[in-house]
Amino acid sequence: MSTRFIKVAVPVTGEEEARAIKEVVLSGNFISGRKVKEFEEAFADYIGVENAAAVNSGTAALHVALAVMGIGPGDEVIVPPLTFMSTITAVFYQNAIPVFADVDEDSFCISPEDIKKRITTRTRAIIPVHLYGNSAEMDEIMRIADEHNLYVIEDCAQAHGTEYKGKKVGSIGHVGVFSFFATKHMTTGEGGMITSNNEEWIRKPRIIRNHGLINRDDHECLGYNYRMNEMAAAMGLVQLNKLDYFNEQRIKNSLFLLKELGRKNSKWFRIPELSKDIGHTFFWCPLIVNTENGFSAKDVVEKLKERGVEVRQRYQEPLYKQKVLQELSPYPNGCPFTCQPELNIPDYKSLNLPNVEALAGNIIGLPNHPELNQEDLEYIMEAVLGLY
Ligand SMILES: Cc1ncc(COP(=O)(O)O)c(C=O)c1O
Repeated sequence: MSTRFIKVAVPVTGEEEARAIKEVVLSGNFISGRKVKEFEEAFADYIGVENAAAVNSGTAALHVALAVMGIGPGDEVIVPPLTFMSTITAVFYQNAIPVFADVDEDSFCISPEDIKKRITTRTRAIIPVHLYGNSAEMDEIMRIADEHNLYVIEDCAQAHGTEYKGKKVGSIGHVGVFSFFATKHMTTGEGGMITSNNEEWIRKPRIIRNHGLINRDDHECLGYNYRMNEMAAAMGLVQLNKLDYFNEQRIKNSLFLLKELGRKNSKWFRIPELSKDIGHTFFWCPLIVNTENGFSAKDVVEKLKERGVEVRQRYQEPLYKQKVLQELSPYPNGCPFTCQPELNIPDYKSLNLPNVEALAGNIIGLPNHPELNQEDLEYIMEAVLGLY
């Protein structure tokens, strides 16, 4: 057992964040104040969009985005099966139906070719997830969406600052959604943001996040309590100022590891190909375990842990294998599958998308966070190369 232990992710926060939060606490102004507005403006500027609306999680951001687009019972939304569950639960919150498209074997993001095969007369939207800091093929996805009159909601929960052909993700689709959960590129503890160039798609989330209220008493629509508080926004402003530095460090650390490891040609892993069109921000520094050579990701994770290197290993299974999808049971009364007549009820049980089946459980993420130094990186590299 190693005495050294390198964590895979750490939130990088300190005195500056503490001061910003203290200032809010002492002001006594916790909700719907100046800090949220400032954070929204600064974040919109950073992403390169006209507007942004802050909410209290990435899941809330996804839910509100779908609600604003009027997606509801019987509508189909095309999603990737390699992502965090809330990309899909948000679809269920609107009583809509997630339809899975396979992913690309190198970017791990939704495949435009496979999206085309999943479109039906009920399809209303696509949610490309920019997984692990990479970007989906947005040009082709927007072209498909235009052709079929579909909305595109970019799930950027793992891609703050990632660029696709020089544009930041979250500025390309109709709407972008972000999470500021503790382990993300930047954090507000919990938090989320919706970005858009369409004023209406930001005006409405501001109403929906606040119980649907348009004044003290009148509720314009069904709403939720999804507001971001002032403490979170104050922390977000400090973190946003550091985001480019954090990303530079993540990129530098990841490229060092991937380049050095790539030279060694090990039998137990392969390095996914990186696209020149994409400014990857490496939420993960990914290696693919070569199971066809007899290696097991579970074994790799355990062995690296024994050597003092914590790694990520997600997502274990394509999301269509989760219980609520296999049993068609997100709600007890059979909705959303029985909500409308003549629905195409997806056969999640026999779904088998080859790329995601091959990748799920076999991608590991090496530590690459901004707090690592050169010695840590070399330690990680030796641990990885000395494994078998
Ligand atoms: C791809 C993806 N989408 C959505 C979310 C949801 O964000 P939150 O945890 O802030 O609700 C996450 C969070 O982990 C995520 O990774």
